[in-house]
Amino acid sequence: MSVRRLAEDSIQPAGFAFNAENAAWAEATIKKYPEGREQSAVIPLLMRAQEQDGWVTRAAIEAIADLLGMAYIRVLEVATFYTQFQLAPVGTRAHVQVCGTTPCMLRGAEDLINLCKKRIHPDPLHLNEGGTLSWEEVECQGACVNAPMVMIFKDAYEDLTPEQLEHIIDRFEAGKGDEITPGPQIDRIYSAPVGGPTTLTDAGTKKAPAKANGGDPAIVPPSNAARPKTDADETDPTLKTPATAKAEAAANAEAKGDTRAEGGAQEAREKPSLDDKNRPAGIARPAAIDDLKLVSGIGPKIEGILHELGIFTFAQIAAWKKAERDWVDGYLNFRGRIERDDWVRQAKALAKGGEAEYIRVFGKKPR
Ligand code: FES
Repeated sequence: MSVRRLAEDSIQPAGFAFNAENAAWAEATIKKYPEGREQSAVIPLLMRAQEQDGWVTRAAIEAIADLLGMAYIRVLEVATFYTQFQLAPVGTRAHVQVCGTTPCMLRGAEDLINLCKKRIHPDPLHLNEGGTLSWEEVECQGACVNAPMVMIFKDAYEDLTPEQLEHIIDRFEAGKGDEITPGPQIDRIYSAPVGGPTTLTDAGTKKAPAKANGGDPAIVPPSNAARPKTDADETDPTLKTPATAKAEAAANAEAKGDTRAEGGAQEAREKPSLDDKNRPAGIARPAAIDDLKLVSGIGPKIEGILHELGIFTFAQIAAWKKAERDWVDGYLNFRGRIERDDWVRQAKALAKGGEAEYIRVFGKKPR
């Protein structure tokens, strides 16, 4: 990680002031803390200053110090310690913070960094040509179990491959970052095991109340005991975790007499029909077939299923329209993985020029 210093004087603005809305918010935020402890508001105020101006300027640090009755050096220490604070202008559409600590490094963070060097700028904390993107390496972001991962502004994107990160960067650059759901980019809930729970499944069957968890022993209803009592968005009691949403879906399906819901809502997800009009057209097995496993996201088992569907070539996958991709995604119960792995772009490259074209497009060998 690089040394964190304030940006050079030549780009520092002369002054800083919260706009009217943020000034009112700052006043209310400071009042949340007891008299004499107002400086506890330093992090939220620095964040608000960053959200207002895009980065934390020297003038903002000094203005916030004055507001909280703190020495400038104390606020400077906070701003330069936490990598959530940007000390110079960053990309207007996305600033990609790649975790480079050991678990993420062991799981492929270096490939993500190389992708950022190629896609954004060879050096960290430099803007791309359009000023829309920037990147840097940061220390552990606390999502090690889902390594490798990146932060983009306030959201974490986890379990990444370089192809998925490039897709995410593309979306942000197009101003469509909200199309990507933050969190794990593979089939897992939060940091649960890939493919579902692997332990305590029997014990849960006997003890978990059926109504509260929709019959799925793996879903433990969240306890309210540890919920923070603030008005922050993330503590909104109406927000549902995927686990509670899943439990409710299962309970609702059960109430409607949908027996497929027994054992959890996951079973209630319908596999699309083979007769569906959106099923991609298959072909008879040709004499020479492509090695579909070169597409990241396709292993031997998935390749076998694709063969059963009459899919044998890269060109077939490259030609799939959105509805067809959705059909295959649903058939494989992939929950969006085909889009996340961008099979079509991979298949297009492989169909066009094999491994050489794939390397040219993605900067690495397929699989
Ligand atoms: S090591 Fe990357 S999130 Fe912890």
